[in-house]
Amino acid sequence: MINLFRFGKPFNTESTVKVIPPCAETMPSNFGATISTNISFLYEYKLQKDNIIFGLGENLHGINKRGNKYVSYCSDDPNHTENKESLYGAHNFLIVYSPSEPVNNSFALFFDYPGEILFDVGFTEENKLVVSTKRKSIDLYLITADKSDSNILVSITTQFRSLIGQSYVPPLWAFGFQQSRWGYQNEKDITTVYEQYKKAGIPLDAIYLDIDYMKDFKDFTVDSERFPDLEVFAKNMKDNGIHLVPIIDAGVKIEDGYDVYEEGVSKDFFCVKEDGSVFTAAVWPGITHFPDFLNPAAREWFGNLYEKLLSKGIDGFWNDMNEPAIFYTPDAVENAFKKIKEYEGKNIGIHDFFNFRDTTNVCNLRSDYKSFYHKVPTELAGDYCSESNQSGVRATVNEKSGDSLKNQYTMVCHDDIHNLYGYNMTRSASESIEKLEKEKRVLLFSRASCIGMHRYGGIWTGDNQSWWSHLELNIKMLPSVNMCGFIYSGADTGGFGSNCSRELLLRWCQFSIFAPLFRNHAAAGTRNQELYNYENVDDFKTAIMFRYALLPYIYSEFLKAALENKLYFSPLSFEYSNDIRALEVEDQLLVGDSIMCAPVYEQNARGRYVYLPEDMGLVRITPLTDFSSLETLPVLPYKKGSYWIDIAQNEFVFFIRKDKAIPFCNLKKSNIATKDIDIKKVSLLGFKVNEERLLYTQYLDDGISKITEKSVEKRTLYL
Ligand code: GLC
Repeated sequence: MINLFRFGKPFNTESTVKVIPPCAETMPSNFGATISTNISFLYEYKLQKDNIIFGLGENLHGINKRGNKYVSYCSDDPNHTENKESLYGAHNFLIVYSPSEPVNNSFALFFDYPGEILFDVGFTEENKLVVSTKRKSIDLYLITADKSDSNILVSITTQFRSLIGQSYVPPLWAFGFQQSRWGYQNEKDITTVYEQYKKAGIPLDAIYLDIDYMKDFKDFTVDSERFPDLEVFAKNMKDNGIHLVPIIDAGVKIEDGYDVYEEGVSKDFFCVKEDGSVFTAAVWPGITHFPDFLNPAAREWFGNLYEKLLSKGIDGFWNDMNEPAIFYTPDAVENAFKKIKEYEGKNIGIHDFFNFRDTTNVCNLRSDYKSFYHKVPTELAGDYCSESNQSGVRATVNEKSGDSLKNQYTMVCHDDIHNLYGYNMTRSASESIEKLEKEKRVLLFSRASCIGMHRYGGIWTGDNQSWWSHLELNIKMLPSVNMCGFIYSGADTGGFGSNCSRELLLRWCQFSIFAPLFRNHAAAGTRNQELYNYENVDDFKTAIMFRYALLPYIYSEFLKAALENKLYFSPLSFEYSNDIRALEVEDQLLVGDSIMCAPVYEQNARGRYVYLPEDMGLVRITPLTDFSSLETLPVLPYKKGSYWIDIAQNEFVFFIRKDKAIPFCNLKKSNIATKDIDIKKVSLLGFKVNEERLLYTQYLDDGISKITEKSVEKRTLYL
């Protein structure tokens, strides 16, 4: 059951697809108290000792979010240390789960709100959940399970996901292994990556083009010295099974003669400052303007620019820097210089010293986010126009065609709707690509995101580091991200910043083989992180080969999750909610319906403890595994309980759940890409306890055509 409680006149974020009429009554007190003043909004709930809080998507800490504070405000910050409160996404959905009273006392909340939200989940006061926003207008959805629901957590999550609409489904090739690095300069670099992978016999489906493919980092341009004929190059690579995936950044370089810049200015498609002048900020290309993705006309204009690359045979994109990240604004730099001058020649005290030191910090300043505006269709803006009136910005704008309501816009301050920016950039791309590519699906994912964007693209979890703690965070984050609709997701495998050790990369790959988005990506200046650069490359090959063998399962379970609003990665508690121990396990995940993975995420570990909430069958993959006859793999029965499992560095294990099976492909050779895998020709591996035959329902399609009701085949396979 979903109820909507509306406070004030909220901004319409377009995050939901179902129209639910707002409740006339106030929220029942057993689900917490809401306090909406003239200025702000507050929600409070007294937590029971055993309550577990799930959700909050891309965020720090564990699967159970209890005990910490989180700030939903899309932030460009690669150092996800424990003291941080915001990451790249803003996913305002949480579940309060009561193990002792699951039916009556479990519920979920979705705070549909475009700006900053504070979630204090038992941090300030251990037994209090407090959610607050600066503005008073907000849509609060309350989701409860029916008494008859056998699985409360699944029911609540599925209801929420049906509220926000079907998750994005990429083409099948995007489930292959992908290699990226910031620093690939030209055709030669890309060709080397392809050839080295081929030589190592490691399957590969995509190589990424980071900012260096562009001419001076200008969106939708290609540097013709580095890539003399991208169309021919992309075709040749595709003939080898490799898709090229270019990056698109949010900022448009200011440069006379650059068509995107000139058109954007002439059509009024960039964000503006209070005085109506175009807002300027520096990112990779130097000084840029930010497209106003909140303005539907600007969205359509920018989205159509992807055609420039689609027409060259490109079929995948990653949208970046779209929080939007700001290195500095000329205004902030000017202010910094003014302040520095104030200190010149003075004998500064200790407080002054700290202030002086902070003056040069001009990155991602909140004051910059407060200084620019979007042109939002008035019917979506709720009561957000009033403040812009006060600030002197022209509150409503009638487009050239006169007064018709349809063309009426309201100027809204960026800071108030900050979390919708990356979402609408990706929506812009997706809506145009949908029209431009009539037949096929295109890969699209984003760094910044907000619930609603999951319908248009996937996410990668932004810049991270080659740290063991970030591998652990990756494991814990993916189920939460799935709850919020982002099924096509994954981290930069191996870590983006810092140098990655062989052991960390290998262990990370052994986990990422289960993640829908499996991309190795690293920052310029770090150790070369392509798998073939490390010793004993066959250990990596084993992991990647297994990924390709498992593709029929991964793809099928992904389709189920996307089409039926399920989780692809679930915490154990979602399946074994009556098992007190399972509720606390955060380093083992269910992958679809049949597999439980138990990755090793600690340095020098040669095994790990695993908790089995029911009898399961252990499968071990080693460099000796014969990928041409995987049906011969032993599935070792284990009884419910705790075990130490030896897992050498070049091995990994996973478990098949009781009476479940997994479809896989035998691989005859190793130099392959997804195009060489026939997901229709599969065998099954299973763990049978009961006498009956095992069955698996495989979801499949041609891997590329648009998803329609009829395009996905569901077939039952028996073992
Ligand atoms: C940002 C992205 C990263 C990319 C870099 C250069 O930091 O998050 O993935 O490599 O910019 O474009």
